[in-house]
Amino acid sequence: MNSWTFNKIAGAVLGTALFVFGLEAITGVIYHRNSASAEKPGMTIEVAETAAPAEGGGEAPAEAKSIGALLATADATKGAAEAKACAACHDFAKGGPNKTGPGLWDVVERPIGKHEGYAYSPAFVEKSSETWTYEHLNAFLASPKGFISGTKMAFGGIKNDTKRANLIAYLATLSDAPKPFPAP
Ligand code: HEC
Repeated sequence: MNSWTFNKIAGAVLGTALFVFGLEAITGVIYHRNSASAEKPGMTIEVAETAAPAEGGGEAPAEAKSIGALLATADATKGAAEAKACAACHDFAKGGPNKTGPGLWDVVERPIGKHEGYAYSPAFVEKSSETWTYEHLNAFLASPKGFISGTKMAFGGIKNDTKRANLIAYLATLSDAPKPFPAP
């Protein structure tokens, strides 16, 4: 083998080594990125919660319009469809059972964390001197962990004002004596 051939082979080997190195570095980066973002989709619903504040400035949407103004134009029938997302964990019927979450019949103006027979998280128990006013429901449903950090309700929240108001209007119908909406 003359030195020229040797050089060619050496060059090829070196080139391959560099290529592999480079590839490793690149895939390392890609892999890292993927595994970082893959952690979030694993928690499905909670993604919305962590992703939204970065984009939309946290709870700004909930504060932008008063719940009274939102409820004034809310549609409880559409809210009933929205509530299907809750039904996996909550029963809505009068005298309904506690499931993963407490029964939600007549939840408006009910004390926080006081549905009979349900074992609430310590964070909820701490809030139990307060009631589920429309304002509180609005804040909680926009961002459950934002309103009660430490809650075990594994739900990211409904960022869309209209959808959230529709849902709250629906919750309000689940009562023998629906509570009047606050003034806009
Ligand atoms: C993955 C299950 C899950 C989903 C989905 C879910 N919740 Fe919950 N919810 C819970 C749990 C668990 C609690 C109790 C929280 C605690 O003790 O920290 C709770 C508590 C609540 C409370 C407080 C009730 C009380 O007695 O103080 C309200 C109101 C509520 N959820 C409304 C909703 C609504 C409305 C939806 C749909 C948009 C929803 N939840 C979706 C699990 C869920």
